[in-house]
Amino acid sequence: MKLRRLSNANSLRGKRVLVRIDGNVPVKGGLAIDGPQGRIARAAVGLEWLRQHGARIIILSHRGRPDGKRVAAFSNAPIAKRLGELFGVKVKLCHDVVGDRTARMISAMHDGDMLMLENLRFNPGEEQNSKAFAQQLASLGDIYINDAFAVSHRAHASVDAITEELPSYAGPLLSQEVSVLESLVEGEPKRPFVLVMGGLKMDDKLPVLEALLPRIDKALIGGALANAFLVAQGKKVGQSAFDKEGVVSAKKILKKYSSKIVLPEDVFVASRLSAQSKPRLVSVDKIDDKDRAIDIGKKTLENFTTIIQEAKTIVWNGPLGYCEVEKFCEGTYSMAKIIAARTGKAKTVIGGGDTVPVIEAANLAERFTLVSTGGGAMLEFLSGKKLPGLEALES
Ligand code: 3PG
Repeated sequence: MKLRRLSNANSLRGKRVLVRIDGNVPVKGGLAIDGPQGRIARAAVGLEWLRQHGARIIILSHRGRPDGKRVAAFSNAPIAKRLGELFGVKVKLCHDVVGDRTARMISAMHDGDMLMLENLRFNPGEEQNSKAFAQQLASLGDIYINDAFAVSHRAHASVDAITEELPSYAGPLLSQEVSVLESLVEGEPKRPFVLVMGGLKMDDKLPVLEALLPRIDKALIGGALANAFLVAQGKKVGQSAFDKEGVVSAKKILKKYSSKIVLPEDVFVASRLSAQSKPRLVSVDKIDDKDRAIDIGKKTLENFTTIIQEAKTIVWNGPLGYCEVEKFCEGTYSMAKIIAARTGKAKTVIGGGDTVPVIEAANLAERFTLVSTGGGAMLEFLSGKKLPGLEALES
């Protein structure tokens, strides 16, 4: 895939450059959970390059899913703070996305300055891929750079429509991720090709899983995603989170690909999603009405490990338990170690805003073939789908 890149860095001095990054990382106590392989830290490399070339950098990002409304809990403040930490200077946050205040703050910028705008998804036009919103954003800059591979599967205004309004280029992080992932899909991946999937965004994951199943040998499913499958098999999951609408797709997937899908046999359950709760190990046939599944069980980990030990290509997205509570993340940490140990004998690719912080916490981030910033974007790319944000940058 040939993406448009900026060819002449000398022309950047004094230019207002809108840079779309994906700073959508978990936040705890107002702080972004983002290590050296995190989404923000990796996007900072491209920002630093622009800074050195005298650009006036306007940083765009979303955080969470505030549904077109201003929701204080989803402010971009933790992203600006993390960038400030990385650069050793305060990165100002404009409390609006577009409008007079934003325009005023931008006109006061000097060469090499950085300004972060508020969460793009506070504006309904973002997710609607609205031309009018894209034009408002475009009026703030001279050039647009997409360095957010992780959101390039979304036809949103700051990813797609904006490319119609400004000279638009692929950033260095996005370009590097695309070329490594491309090398994985070109030609036949080494087999067995095993997909490990968990996490919370169930509505998105079932269609991607369905698209990937013809290409892979096994899919090991954990986390909340597994619950939809257990319900599809007629099991009770108590108070566990699951995607009700997804149960129909899960049934269809099970019917068509039963030999490829590997589900938990046992899970740890807790009565509350709190560190004070004491997890119990139960068979998936014995989940009580008051229980919530919070981690994969020991037998499940054993089954998953046996399959991973044989795999030659492993792609992983999504924690296998409720990792917001450290002690519910044990199964995910064990899986991370087992997959990391296969690197070399297998190509190991992991990605996603919730998965990368887990492997960073376990000090394993350097031990995979590729750590992608993308979760859904990575899976969609690997399934062969066209990503709107990338198509818009093709030369
Ligand atoms: C991600 O976390 O995968 C990206 O930031 C995209 O977020 P979304 O799934 O809310 O669009």
